[in-house]
Parts: sequence; C-alpha cells; structure tokens
Amino acid sequence: MTNEPYLADKEKLSSLKDMYCEFHRETSGSDEPISNESKRDIDRHLTSIRGSDNDWVYLVDGSGKTPVGFIACHRYNNAADKHIKPGDVEIESFVAREGRGQGLGKILKTTAIDSVAERADGSARVLSSVEKGNSVNIHILKKTGFRELRGTAYSANNGQEYSVYAKKVA
Ligand SMILES: CC(C)(COP(=O)(O)OP(=O)(O)OC[C@H]1O[C@@H](n2cnc3c(N)ncnc32)[C@H](O)[C@@H]1OP(=O)(O)O)[C@@H](O)C(=O)NCCC(=O)NCCS
Repeated sequence: MTNEPYLADKEKLSSLKDMYCEFHRETSGSDEPISNESKRDIDRHLTSIRGSDNDWVYLVDGSGKTPVGFIACHRYNNAADKHIKPGDVEIESFVAREGRGQGLGKILKTTAIDSVAERADGSARVLSSVEKGNSVNIHILKKTGFRELRGTAYSANNGQEYSVYAKKVA
C-alpha cells in the first residue's frame, strides 16, 4: 500500500484517474461509458487533492507498476450537510475486478480508519455513502465496524438510492 508518492508519478496518477472513472460508472449503476464532462470533474478533483491537508489517498500496488485499487479520504472542516460534523472524513474505495475477493477492499477500509485516527484532532468519524444494492461494500463496512446512520437515505439524480454508514474512530 502506498500513500503520497503517486502525486509525483504520472503513470500512477493516470491509473488513479482511470480507476476513479470506473468507480463512478459502477457506483452510479450506469453501463454507459463515463462522459467527458465527468472525466474533467475527476481531473479537477484529483488535481485539487494535491497539497491539501484534508485529502489523502492510498493506492493498492499491483504486481507491475499499475495500482489495482485506491481509497480516497476527504476531511470536512465544516458541517457540509446535516449529518456531517467538522472533523468527519468521507471515504471512497475501489478495487479493480481482477483484484476483487482477496481481502483488498477490507484492507483499504482498515487502512483509512487507522489514518483517520492518526490525523484526528478531537472526535472524528469515518463516513461512507453507499448504494442500497451494494451488498459487498455494505458487508465490508459492517465487518469493519460501520453502522448505517439513521435518516441519511437519499435518492440521487441518477435514480440510485444511497445511505450513509459511519464509524467513530476518536
Ligand atoms: C467494494 C469493493 C471495494 C470490495 O473490494 P474487494 O477487494 O472485492 O473486497 P474484499 O475481498 O475485501 O471483501 C469482499 C467481501 O464481500 C463478501 N461478498 C462477496 N459477494 C457478496 C455478496 N453478493 N453479498 C454480500 N457479501 C459478499 C465476501 O465474502 C467478502 O467478505 P468476507 O471477507 O467476510 O468473506 C469492490 O467490490 C469495488 O471496488 N466495487 C466497486 C466500487 C464500490 O462499490 N466501492 C465502494 C463504494 S465507496
């Protein structure tokens, strides 16, 4: 598992962009290729992560140079939504299909949980927004100590239903 070096490594950054596109496609429940506009949004997002104290990413190293998974962490400094408290960290994780079912998804979650605890200044929770039908991710979240937050169910523009899972770490 590597952390910051991807920032300086063009190939790793490019793999992270590709994985982020696939992550968005899968979690939005769409079979359509991701639009150029969404690709530009992902580009902007990943560029803004550089140098930010409130964003960090871990990559799963593959056998070659190409990473096979990531977990992105974003810390909120203010109550951006009614269920969000300052200090909460939202995570997004992805494992490429060829790497799934080997425990990497669980390792990514525990790595993020440990990193949030290390960086916490006071109380902190890890939050994950999950599609209702994502039974694999919900299984991993429950196994790593997350619980569904009451009253957080919502329908997104894409028609998918989501709710937020949380784990207190400090
Ligand atoms: C969610 C994701 C990261 C999991 O990665 P992974 O490396 O396959 O996960 P793991 O191998 O650690 O764990 C898979 C677990 O799901 C379980 N599982 C597999 N199929 C399942 C199913 N249909 N229903 C419930 N659990 C299932 C496995 O048994 C395993 O649990 P166990 O360790 O208790 O046996 C990966 O599927 C993914 O990238 N999905 C697309 C993006 C996504 O949904 N990201 C999460 C949203 S933030």
